[in-house]
Amino acid sequence: MISLACSDARRIPLADQSVHCVITSPPYFGLRDYGTATWQGGDPACDHKVPPSRKGNYPESNRKQQTNSGSLTYREWTICGKCDAVRMDAQIGLEASPDCLGWARGENCGKCYICHLRPCAAEVWRVLRDDGTFWLNLGSSYASANTVMFKPKDLIPIPWLAALALQADGW
Ligand SMILES: C[S@@+](CC[C@H](N)C(=O)[O-])C[C@H]1O[C@@H](n2cnc3c(N)ncnc32)[C@H](O)[C@@H]1O
Ligand SMILES: [Zn+2]
Ligand SMILES: [Zn+2]
Repeated sequence: MISLACSDARRIPLADQSVHCVITSPPYFGLRDYGTATWQGGDPACDHKVPPSRKGNYPESNRKQQTNSGSLTYREWTICGKCDAVRMDAQIGLEASPDCLGWARGENCGKCYICHLRPCAAEVWRVLRDDGTFWLNLGSSYASANTVMFKPKDLIPIPWLAALALQADGW
């Protein structure tokens, strides 16, 4: 039987130790907006505008290059200044910071790319059988002017940061 479970990767609707193999290619850091955000509540007829004070952190839906986020950063939620609808986005990859190094202190800031990736891997650990395998496809990214901790054009060693974080988490 083939079935498809569609969910946030941090809450996989599958039983513990029920999966033989996980192969995944999560969004790379700072590369693309997958357009997954939705507006919830407020006035459905509203054209939703985010106040200028927040504009810099709001991915515009009519950007020329929808899938190329460039120096874009995002918020998991933001509020329409006209109707108070809340814009929610569970996608990972558009964080301001690639890594807070919280994994080295046993902490999770809940905001940086690596701290978003770690709960995905923890869910994979939960659903994988003891003899299961996990294949994680990740690439490095270059820092933009807005990237926290790195100067513009720095190569950010995302795969190594992820490997160190997941090792610290018990992988
Ligand atoms: C690099 S693409 C992988 C595409 C996939 N290999 C395929 O063939 O369809 C990354 C995907 O992860 C999705 N994504 C982003 N954040 C997610 C999350 N928190 N939970 C589940 N999927 C997420 C994006 O919307 C995008 O479709
Ligand atoms: Zn609105
Ligand atoms: Zn963090």
